[in-house]
Amino acid sequence: MDRRKFLQQLASAAAAGIVLTSCANSSNAQTPDSAGNDSKPESAKGSTKKMKIFVLTGSPRKNSNTNYMAERFIAGATEAGHEVFKFDCARSDVSGCIGCNHCNMNGPCIYDDDFSKLRPKLIEADLVAFVSPMYYFGFSSQIKRVIDRFYAINGQIKGASKKAVFMMAYADTSKSEAEAMTVHYKALVKYLGWKDVGMVIAPGVWTAGSIKNTKYGEDAYKLGKSI
Ligand SMILES: Cc1cc2nc3c(=O)[nH]c(=O)nc-3n(C[C@H](O)[C@H](O)[C@H](O)COP(=O)(O)O)c2cc1C
Repeated sequence: MDRRKFLQQLASAAAAGIVLTSCANSSNAQTPDSAGNDSKPESAKGSTKKMKIFVLTGSPRKNSNTNYMAERFIAGATEAGHEVFKFDCARSDVSGCIGCNHCNMNGPCIYDDDFSKLRPKLIEADLVAFVSPMYYFGFSSQIKRVIDRFYAINGQIKGASKKAVFMMAYADTSKSEAEAMTVHYKALVKYLGWKDVGMVIAPGVWTAGSIKNTKYGEDAYKLGKSI
């Protein structure tokens, strides 16, 4: 795909994000419920297919809340018989994309770093889980750096029939604070042509490990078990 087409598609995805925001109050919208979790689309329920699941975690913190969510999700998914591969973006050597376009969005990257190990796993994954703390209303830079490197395999992952889930935690107690990240996730998944199959949004979680005193670990486990 050439860059012009990519930018056009990105613009469409961004526009879709605005639509998603504006329909967030609709009763049909997939928005966090009062407990902070999203309802899963019917189409995502009851699948018996054993999947290859790729989990990207974005927190650099010890005793991280979002890493705990990822672990609970993985426990559920493993119990359900899925094969899981976890990648800790914060403890990996992955350079940020510099937009040199050497890969032409579907080829070798100029960097030979830990992303080289991820490439085949991402391409073959049936489901990708994005798990990140909120950092100034967005994904952590650690996970974003890895997402940006999708650019070199864009041609192989875009339009592939993958599913996606999203889990996040943040300190503020207001649900609306999660909107920017949720819209970003939905726009990304829409652009890639993947299918969102569930989210766990955890507001009011600030100090390291405090998520263990909430229901969100269990929500993540149930999501992993039910996909
Ligand atoms: C750099 C940084 C930026 C943050 N930005 C926000 C923010 O915009 N809104 C918010 O509610 N919490 C914010 N937080 C709090 C974290 O989202 C919160 O502590 C979360 O539980 C961290 O998850 P983790 O333990 O998995 O790293 C921020 C924390 C850090 C370190």
